[in-house]
Amino acid sequence: MNIYQKCVESAGYIKQLADASGAIGIILGSGLGNLAEEVEDAVVISYKDIPHFPMTNVVGHAGRLVIGKLNGVKVVCMQGRFHFYEGYDMKIVSMPVRVMKLLGVRSLIVTNAAGGVNRSFNEGTLMLIDDFINFMGENPLTGENVEEFGPRFPDMTLALDNNYKKLAFEAAKELNIDLRKGVYMSFRGPNYETPAEIRFAEVIGADAVGMSTVPEILVARHANIPTIGISCITNMAAGITGEALSHSEVEAVAKRVNNEFKALLKLLITKM
Ligand code: HPA
Repeated sequence: MNIYQKCVESAGYIKQLADASGAIGIILGSGLGNLAEEVEDAVVISYKDIPHFPMTNVVGHAGRLVIGKLNGVKVVCMQGRFHFYEGYDMKIVSMPVRVMKLLGVRSLIVTNAAGGVNRSFNEGTLMLIDDFINFMGENPLTGENVEEFGPRFPDMTLALDNNYKKLAFEAAKELNIDLRKGVYMSFRGPNYETPAEIRFAEVIGADAVGMSTVPEILVARHANIPTIGISCITNMAAGITGEALSHSEVEAVAKRVNNEFKALLKLLITKM
């Protein structure tokens, strides 16, 4: 069974339980998962019940789809995502975005926790993903093109929707949030980068580094889903302050910024 057929079966199962057509898809990154708890009239579907969905193993990632209304706007939240470093194939990592496409999702918001490379950022900075660098050495669009979703050679100049970027800055201004913008560079992980890798990232134009999101953006662009991405800078990247990095620090900062990040998303979706 090819990836398209798998996505059709996954979407078919979800459609029996909830109607997500016209919804905004939201992939909730580390520390943001609790936004799904605010979804009203929620239909909650465990990944383990969806045909062909793998399970998430990362602690702190719930592993379920939450479909309902947030601030009056129809949403499909992914509470927990799949990471390449967990050992999944890129096609599996990005598959939920294709399933969302088949569900009739009209836009996508991708979020993550990331390390700050831009020295003007701080722990807790929110960064709009203006552009990205795929440094994972892999691509979910490799192999026979899935024509049902999109073209062989998809454009990436407009991968992140310009109008949504404007709306995000509008929303941030209204909330008095100092939203920054920058280039997100994805590494394979699971180790945090070395200081030398971060100096390299800085030289080639990255403002933030992380281990997710790029596969999902690539597949969304291929399937022509207007997309916006926002990173929470949970730590300055390796070598910048000289301190060792730890997942618990990343979690603590994500938790501290949680309310602000949620407020931004909740206002943004009303404008999209
Ligand atoms: N590097 C990669 N991924 C991350 C980081 C980082 O410094 N912080 C949070 N996710």
